[in-house]
Amino acid sequence: MTKNDHAKLIESSPNGLTRRDLIKGVIVGGVAVSSASYLFRASTLLSQSARGTGERLLTMNVNGQQRRADVMKQETLAWTLRHKLGLTGTKLGCDRAECGSCTVLIDGVPHYSCSVLTHTVRDKKVLTIEGLASPDGRLHPVQQGVIDEQGFQCAFCMPGFIMSAVAFLETNANPTRSELAQGLSGNLCRCQDYDKILTAMMRGAENLRRASRA
Ligand code: FES
Ligand code: FES
Repeated sequence: MTKNDHAKLIESSPNGLTRRDLIKGVIVGGVAVSSASYLFRASTLLSQSARGTGERLLTMNVNGQQRRADVMKQETLAWTLRHKLGLTGTKLGCDRAECGSCTVLIDGVPHYSCSVLTHTVRDKKVLTIEGLASPDGRLHPVQQGVIDEQGFQCAFCMPGFIMSAVAFLETNANPTRSELAQGLSGNLCRCQDYDKILTAMMRGAENLRRASRA
């Protein structure tokens, strides 16, 4: 059907609907479809997470330990960490590689775990916020920086920021404030608490330098 045919069909609608009514209907329908696809995605993931539906047993190195989990081939690392391994320190914000809340280190490199398939990390080392403190319970210097400066408001974004900062400071141990801000630009804070966060991360960098000199 051509564009003109389509327009004629709408204009000659027999049930008294105006062109505007029809267009409105299409828009509302479109919203319903996009909401449905979002819900469908969540419910699909939930239903597929039921044991036995295409899962394979996988062993992976998380926080220095060999961990085993039944994993679907389309399952994300964030999902496995939170729902299969109980490591809920890794947060899920957008679940689409935009906010950085789910940041973990894979072989020392920060990644959005919501956008990494779990089976791809089989031979790699995953570090989450739970693995940062020393075995004796001493906090990582960057974590200590957050406490020292009382950074973060609700702290939902905090694990992601800390993991990104830890990785960045490996490449630049003595950054300026703006270099560190640039290094953390892949992380978003819904409370918009960026100034305090940066102060806490700068303190973390200082703590880390002091610890490495000791
Ligand atoms: S939850 Fe992964 S980037 Fe937002
Ligand atoms: S402190 Fe609330 S989201 Fe960052």
